[in-house]
Amino acid sequence: MDVVRTSVTDFDAAVADVLAETIAARPDAVLLLATGSTPIGGFRELVRRVGAGDVDARRIRVVQLDEYVGIPDDDRRSLYGWLEREVLAPLEVDEDRLLRFRVESADDAEAACATLDDGIGRLGGLDLALLGLGPNGHVGFNEPPCGPDAPTRVVALDPASVTSNARYWGGEEHVPRLSVTVGLGPILAARHVALVVQGDHKRGILRQTLEGPETPQVPASYLRRATRYTVVADEDALDGA
Ligand code: PGA
Repeated sequence: MDVVRTSVTDFDAAVADVLAETIAARPDAVLLLATGSTPIGGFRELVRRVGAGDVDARRIRVVQLDEYVGIPDDDRRSLYGWLEREVLAPLEVDEDRLLRFRVESADDAEAACATLDDGIGRLGGLDLALLGLGPNGHVGFNEPPCGPDAPTRVVALDPASVTSNARYWGGEEHVPRLSVTVGLGPILAARHVALVVQGDHKRGILRQTLEGPETPQVPASYLRRATRYTVVADEDALDGA
């Protein structure tokens, strides 16, 4: 495990560094990308570097990590919407370089999971899985309890995730209760897993993730099993961790 400790202000650049290094090593890298607030600044910094000609992202392939079930595609709050605004549109990633969940209807959810896993296989696996850390230790919507072999699947949101995502939905009552997520199993098969963590509100769960026992109660604790594992965390998240 490699821990990259940053100041609060250098965090986004450090996240962009992980992405840029992956793309430099393999211009058609297959990137599994989280949404949520943590990686957004890193995505923007990557977009800036691409605009400045420092990174060539014309061949990257992008895989969606997770999605709410039953949300129309054009809803800004869908996780696809986040990905579209922050990565796909600015980096001009077209449909044939994108693997995403299509789960506007709950009836489609299981088939969409199978399609996504098949797609990852056809792409030759993930070069990088860039993940945020949930306040309950989830990655993607791998909610606790979750073992290291968990497949890509339909998952009911944990109450902690409903609470934490309420800020994006205008209240807990509006947060969708069902999600799909790439499983911890396929995540651990990635050639490189990077966990990005920011802020003192994540300090306790980060400590458990890095130093606590491997446990289904903290799904991120299994990330230590990855072939290559990098944790990018700012000093607020790491202090005391
Ligand atoms: P955040 O979400 O980056 O918005 O804190 C992380 C997560 O819940 O996975």
